[in-house]
Amino acid sequence: MPYGTVQPQNGLAKAITTHTLRKMKEEGTKFVTVALYDAPMASMALKSGVEVLLVGDSLGMTVLGYDSTIPVTMEQMIYHVEAVKRGNDKSLIMGDMPFMTYATPEQAMTNATRIMQAGAHMVKLEGGEWLAPTISMLSERGIPVCAHLGLTPQSVNKLGGFRVQGRSEEQAEQILADAIALDQAGADLLVLECVPCELAKRITAAVSMPTIGIGAGRDTDAQVLVINDILGLTEQPPKFSKNFLVEADDIPGALKKYTNDVKTGVFPGDEHNFG
Ligand code: KIV
Repeated sequence: MPYGTVQPQNGLAKAITTHTLRKMKEEGTKFVTVALYDAPMASMALKSGVEVLLVGDSLGMTVLGYDSTIPVTMEQMIYHVEAVKRGNDKSLIMGDMPFMTYATPEQAMTNATRIMQAGAHMVKLEGGEWLAPTISMLSERGIPVCAHLGLTPQSVNKLGGFRVQGRSEEQAEQILADAIALDQAGADLLVLECVPCELAKRITAAVSMPTIGIGAGRDTDAQVLVINDILGLTEQPPKFSKNFLVEADDIPGALKKYTNDVKTGVFPGDEHNFG
């Protein structure tokens, strides 16, 4: 193959759907998610058996050099969803909706349509109970939705920084209530970012949709890490992440180690959690 292109090979038996993930939750089988942004990484993730690919707006920080996710545009998201799609025909692809592209249900419909048409199987939105009408609208019209609670990076200015959320009893109850409301509105997945592990465990037990944790302990139904953290490309890596390349020979090896450690409950360890 010329110019470093990667030939996709099947590391997953068949295409992953929202039904696959629900069944895995019911059976207590952990699944693996990686936030990544291009075709070669998507192809390697396929060979390593990664079930879900998140084309995250974290690309604003990991690839484009911004200091938050706020400047990311629809055009940038579409460009990267299309690239990831070309590298992987089996994993479920989730596309982040950028800042202020889903402020109303109607705006969300228009923009989610574009992300789905670029090749995503699902869109991801950050926010609590206020998003319930939007999630119902998208879901009823055939667009699966992943909700995102806890540390929601698009609200960094409101939250006063990239901080752990849900430490107080009041905050924890609010996040739990939000999760239940979004589950009932029809959300298919829930990312829980930087919340105490006990709270993530309670939410995972309370909702029917699978939960994906990042800095949320080992009791969620799945884990997600950003590819830059998995490969040790982040100068000041967050406490919840791990460089898997130090224990592997190459990038596919690092992805396989991450996948294996999530599935066997080795990752995340206590040192990655917020108590
Ligand atoms: O944008 C992103 O990559 C994310 C994950 C960190 C969950 O939202």
